Amino acid sequence: MLVPDLKEAKIRTKKESIVKANEYIINNELKSLGKDKLYFLKTYGCQMNEHDSENIKAILEDMGFSETKDMEDADLILLNTCAIRENAHNKVFGYLGRAKNLKSRKPGVLVGICGCMAQEEVVVNKILSEYKWMDFVFGTHNIHKLPQVLEKSIKDHKLNVEVLSCEGDVIENIPVKRDSKSKAWINIMYGCDKFCTYCIVPYTRGSQRSRRKEYILEEVKDLIKDGYKEVTLLGQNVNAYGKDLDDNYYMENLLEDVALTGIERIRFVTSHPWDFTDRMIDVIAKYDNIMPYIHLPLQSGSDRILKLMGRRYTKESYLELYNKLKKNIPNCSITTDIIVGFPGETEEDFNETLDVVNKCKYDGAYTFIFSPREGTPAAKMKDDVSLEEKEKRLYKLNELINKYSKENNDKYLNKTVKVLLEGVSEKGEDTLMGYTETMKLVNVKAEKEYIGTIQDVTITSVKTWSMDGELRR
Ligand code: 5AD
Ligand code: SF4
Repeated sequence: MLVPDLKEAKIRTKKESIVKANEYIINNELKSLGKDKLYFLKTYGCQMNEHDSENIKAILEDMGFSETKDMEDADLILLNTCAIRENAHNKVFGYLGRAKNLKSRKPGVLVGICGCMAQEEVVVNKILSEYKWMDFVFGTHNIHKLPQVLEKSIKDHKLNVEVLSCEGDVIENIPVKRDSKSKAWINIMYGCDKFCTYCIVPYTRGSQRSRRKEYILEEVKDLIKDGYKEVTLLGQNVNAYGKDLDDNYYMENLLEDVALTGIERIRFVTSHPWDFTDRMIDVIAKYDNIMPYIHLPLQSGSDRILKLMGRRYTKESYLELYNKLKKNIPNCSITTDIIVGFPGETEEDFNETLDVVNKCKYDGAYTFIFSPREGTPAAKMKDDVSLEEKEKRLYKLNELINKYSKENNDKYLNKTVKVLLEGVSEKGEDTLMGYTETMKLVNVKAEKEYIGTIQDVTITSVKTWSMDGELRR
């Protein structure tokens, strides 16, 4: 049994990570372990987790399992979890309750969790005391060992916890089964060394480890051959790409080389304002296939709170960067993340946040109430803002965010924009959905043969979160 240890997870060394291209191993016995069996995989959290799930699916299918979307039919239930806020935890424990019920009716069903919650001491302790009926827990650092973890669970018939607190190496041969045929996630780095005081990620995902450019560029080229139109370069803090390597090759170099592969659309998430260099801005502005869309988390507009958060920038320097992006990248859309109710946030601090929102007029924002995460410094800070007050602030902030989102969208009315049509829309079978270059969701009446193509679309109506358009044929 290997259980997580937050103190160990906090350790950072200068050592470079080792690339391992043969670490995922699956023998013939493991390849038939899932024969005629069904798996049910539910994913919570960010794009990083979505992409991990694409790896997990490929591994399970390598073992002979097939996917079911109905938990009731499953022989294996796996929840890929997120730890970022308390409500993410609650959802997972709620789901485990349902899984327990199913297991009592079908005792052979295997139930396990993986992902960021599995890396948390509190969670694993709770599982060891109250969820002993579960079969397995594994973390974010040993996804490639899933076949071996499952084999052990099947043989031992008891809860198997295998969570590494210290990240390992960069594993390059994990298979992937992508959800989309037109757009793809590509990890360019793992982990994070920023240690913002509210954030659990540096503990659950470990230290920053950039992938070597050769592997990334190879992946992009293979995707182009397979007909992919868009790649999103993924990392907790992509602007810091390469800073942990020895070859003087950074995010601007990577962006430029990916642009030169000729892939039609490039996006990247998430950017920390601290590492956003002028050279990066120049490259984004220079290449038409790097999309004019940037997610630039603000978190707070108050210098006092930013300092307590350990964000390393001020309101003024954030606004300076924002203005530089807007000036140099034509039609660039910018979205953000904001936390309200950080410990000690006063009305005055909150007004500073509203002031930045009024200045930046964001295209959109993800807004959150602060959620203390055990083991992080902010969880120990005195939190004297009432929940009622936090909710009031969140409501006020959202009203403002929605106002600017609609105003930004209104500018698109009657304009013709390029949309990558990804699939059938929730609106109905005769409607497709896709995103503009600036990451606006558009619904278009079109035949299914257009799926996977980039089309000129004229915007006919605009809402706060989406738009409707018509194909310009
Ligand atoms: N409480 C509330 N929101 C948080 N986020 C990260 N940690 C917390 C927390 N403890 C938000 C930040 C981050 C986004 C992914 O989630 O805004 O950018
Ligand atoms: Fe959630 Fe963060 Fe883990 Fe993503 S990296 S799944 S947001 S805790």
